[in-house]
Amino acid sequence: MYNFMTAEEAALLVPHGAIVGMGGFTPAGAPKDVPTAIAHRAEALHAEGKPYKIGIYTGASTGDSCDGALARAHAIEFRTPYQGNKDLRAELNAQGAHYFDMHLSELAQDLRYGFLPKPDFAIIEACQVTDDGEIVPTAGVGNMPTFCRLADKIIIELNEAMPATMRGLHDIYEPADPPQRREIPVYKPSDRIGADCIKVDPKKIVAIVRTHRPNEVGKFTPLDAVTEKIGENVATFLEHEMKAGRIPASFLPIQSGVGNVANAVLGALGENPHIPPFEMYTEVIQDSVVGLMKEGRVKFASGCSLTVGADKLQDIIDHIDFFRDKIVLRPQEISNNPELARRMGLITINTALEADIYGNINSTHVCGTKMMNGIGGSGDFTRNAYISIYTTPSTAKGGAISAFVPMVSHLDHSEHSVKIIITEHGIADLRGKSPIQRAHEIINNCVDPQYRDLLNGYLALAKTAHTPHVLSCALAMHEEFLKSGDMRNTKWENYLR
Ligand code: COA
Repeated sequence: MYNFMTAEEAALLVPHGAIVGMGGFTPAGAPKDVPTAIAHRAEALHAEGKPYKIGIYTGASTGDSCDGALARAHAIEFRTPYQGNKDLRAELNAQGAHYFDMHLSELAQDLRYGFLPKPDFAIIEACQVTDDGEIVPTAGVGNMPTFCRLADKIIIELNEAMPATMRGLHDIYEPADPPQRREIPVYKPSDRIGADCIKVDPKKIVAIVRTHRPNEVGKFTPLDAVTEKIGENVATFLEHEMKAGRIPASFLPIQSGVGNVANAVLGALGENPHIPPFEMYTEVIQDSVVGLMKEGRVKFASGCSLTVGADKLQDIIDHIDFFRDKIVLRPQEISNNPELARRMGLITINTALEADIYGNINSTHVCGTKMMNGIGGSGDFTRNAYISIYTTPSTAKGGAISAFVPMVSHLDHSEHSVKIIITEHGIADLRGKSPIQRAHEIINNCVDPQYRDLLNGYLALAKTAHTPHVLSCALAMHEEFLKSGDMRNTKWENYLR
């Protein structure tokens, strides 16, 4: 009853100017063949001098076959809410496409509220589609339920590498909009409140494309001494909080961010014998969780996606009966929901690009101007955490960049939301501290020793005030990096006015 066709034929259904909601979350469960075919079509039309661009909503990042291919084809008009592809990053920073960086929990409701134009198409990956319109997602859910409901037309990549036995991993739930919204009835990570599939009017499914493509989740950089030490410091901090009675002995659910540092932190938590087996209520379930689950260190993981390498995903698929009652995949509106983060008391651990000496965090903009990835779910969690932790290596680029500067060059998370900062050197506990106390705590405990004198020198120059600053020098370390390639060359006197 459905129209099975090739990716190239499906791409012809999507006209110039269309708005598309791509399924999945991170490369996990994102469509692959149809976006690539759209990119090829765009290139062919551009070669004929014809315009072709589409607006794209996603869950988060996608794989290179989607964001990468479409960016290289200059086929993106706008893009939200998060990305992580090097070619798309270049396209955004060259203003080749408009990007608006959003809290990941908010896109679905912003679409329903009419703040953003609704998608014309949902292009999604599934492991099962039934004749009566039941669609079972694969390794990532993202905003699929809302995209499928709002879009007039749905194109499905039926990925035969993802077996229908994945049915039962997902919990699909869309909240009502205000003033009808009630509490979301999740009280612990393992609570299920929705359906095991997305239900649509089968008439909206205009194409099904069979694929066999594996997920495009990249490999993690192996742990180095710095990431290992950061992980250890996080585990030590949490162990200490538990012993002090500030975290219940039964522990609280963990949210852990994206990237190499986050993966290392989780590994260290798992290895710490003083931390009891724990649950996760998080956005991405990363590689290290799979092993920890097998060892019984992670009891349950609720997330939006299985952002794991191909081998780990295959391991989960091969042992689906073991994992089915230990993992649930939810729409990002629920996995990242502020109400739920506050209710369950999440310990949130995210990574900063840079922080300032007062505890403000920049997660997104290199030197204040160039988009790295996006804020992702870090704001959803940080602001509503039981205890919010930021981790970062104290330096980047071989020491030429200090992760700690007088004033962040872009603000994502303010001093009001950030409770703890941890580097390989130590832990800054910002709770109950004034700005100047926070500055001393951060400089003494977290800053790399080669930058401590420089930052203490900055404080010494600043006139006494609630939050002391020398405005002409506040971004001098960034300016120095742009000029000489090394923040260590900063001399305050060159910037004093
Ligand atoms: N200025 C310039 N570049 C910096 C930098 C700084 N202050 N700090 C780090 N970098 C560079 C690193 O050198 C590295 O560059 P490379 O890829 O060329 O080697 C790159 O940024 C990534 O750094 P890395 O230390 O490998 O960090 P990561 O993989 O852990 O990612 C973030 C860190 C901040 C980019 C990532 O966590 C992110 O995008 N966060 C925002 C979204 C988020 O928090 N989501 C979680 C919600 S669940």
